[in-house]
Amino acid sequence: MKVSASRQSAATGREGGRFPPGVRVGAGALIDDDVRIGGEPFPRKGVDIGRGARIRAGSAVEDDVHIGDRLETGRNIVICEDTSMGDDCHLGNNTIVGSGSRIGDRVHIGANCYIAQLTTIEDDVTIAPGVCFANDPHPGSATQLCMRGPTIERAAQIGMNATILPFVTIGERSLVGAGSVVTRSVPTGLVVAGNPARILKSVAAVSCPLDLAAGEYLAAPREDPDGGEPRRLPARDARV
Ligand SMILES: CC(C)(COP(=O)(O)OP(=O)(O)OC[C@H]1O[C@@H](n2cnc3c(N)ncnc32)[C@H](O)[C@@H]1OP(=O)(O)O)[C@@H](O)C(=O)NCCC(=O)NCCS
Repeated sequence: MKVSASRQSAATGREGGRFPPGVRVGAGALIDDDVRIGGEPFPRKGVDIGRGARIRAGSAVEDDVHIGDRLETGRNIVICEDTSMGDDCHLGNNTIVGSGSRIGDRVHIGANCYIAQLTTIEDDVTIAPGVCFANDPHPGSATQLCMRGPTIERAAQIGMNATILPFVTIGERSLVGAGSVVTRSVPTGLVVAGNPARILKSVAAVSCPLDLAAGEYLAAPREDPDGGEPRRLPARDARV
């Protein structure tokens, strides 16, 4: 990766003095100069960012945020307070992660996404650009008592510009079509699409549009014990 030394610096934690007390940044992080980390004036509960993070210009990470190793972000991302994220996560340009969200390992979130407060995203989930999650069934409610974000289960995929409404769970390995509005929970291993989203098929029945892949096209990712990229299961191991 080519970097400009004038606009970036290796991150230093408390000892190095770049960030306020309570901010801990792991070794090997590369964080652009105008990135703000921690609450103002100082984080009350602390911020932990693991090793090898790459956080790009214009971004902000608020107080009480805990992130694993190798986070990579685009520009102008915001991670709001009381949020946790695992290892090897990616956030695209302009994406916002609302407070109280819980995000697992190897989660890829594209550009311009709005992850509402109180959302849960499990491991190996992919969220395409422009996706919005909602958390308040009645926007403008004075009490916000029933505010709950969606839950996206392991290895699910959300197509671009989809909207997922409050309380909805997207089941493990399910796929939401582009532009869908998902109003009801989706069981495991299904493709849904449309507004309101309806079941189209099983993910096992999705084929490669260019006919480049044989067998089960959307095989389940499996964690690599050596810590590398998740591998794809052969079709016979995939669960639907
Ligand atoms: C949902 C999806 C996976 C279905 O793909 P598929 O299995 O090849 O399905 P088909 O193209 O055969 O479509 C089956 C039917 O569903 C409809 N359909 C497909 N995708 C749809 C969508 N997103 N919204 C509404 N209807 C959709 C098709 O029009 C077709 O209807 P018909 O039978 O009346 O003609 C795919 O269309 C999709 O939306 N993928 C997400 C792409 C994306 O966002 N990628 C992000 C990275 S850029």
